Amino acid sequence: MVLITLDGIDGSGKSSLLSALEKSLSDLSPVFTREPGATWVGEQVRRAIAERADPVTEALLFAADHAAHLEAVVRPALAAGRLVISDRYTDSRYAYQSATLEGIIPDPLGWLKAVHDGWTVPPDRTVLLVLPVAEALRRKSGKGVSEHFEEATLLERVQENYLRISAEEPMRFLVIDAGQPEEKVHALVSSAIREWHGSLRSRHR
Ligand code: TMP
Repeated sequence: MVLITLDGIDGSGKSSLLSALEKSLSDLSPVFTREPGATWVGEQVRRAIAERADPVTEALLFAADHAAHLEAVVRPALAAGRLVISDRYTDSRYAYQSATLEGIIPDPLGWLKAVHDGWTVPPDRTVLLVLPVAEALRRKSGKGVSEHFEEATLLERVQENYLRISAEEPMRFLVIDAGQPEEKVHALVSSAIREWHGSLRSRHR
């Protein structure tokens, strides 16, 4: 009944934050999930990334993965009254694909929003981890993640998009300086999620 999403550029520390949250929030029995990859469609998305599919194909595959994710995981969990925490969600598309579709589609963010309009489930709250791109790349180096998305200039644009999107919806976003010690980031996010869960769960969805 409460949907919380975690977002940020590659290397912003989402993975270690999520492992810590799995332990510290276990009493709330959250459903931890992710995009891409919660369903078989996610495998096709990873293939498109690996094969460097054209940006429109890639964007539509990410959106298809979102549709399958909603159907298979998010909607049933919310209907069952669960707290859902998703590692990446629509904002990843709005930030990454707004950058990759630049120059291909006249208004990438408007197009992406229209693609999701009417069927997506908007998140209740979103944690955005922000870290300088150089530091994010340094943290990620040697970890074997897709090079396609790690190019610094792209990530700079992606981060700018995240910051712009979060500034437009200050009530939904909690923007965290991910350059702080990991324990500090974890403590801030963990207590924010507890507070949101407490205040939002009684509300009728
Ligand atoms: P991951 O590293 O969190 O598994 O995500 C894989 C990559 O896919 C990462 O570079 C972010 C990117 N991505 C998009 O470009 N658009 C999206 O909608 C999503 C969910 C991820």
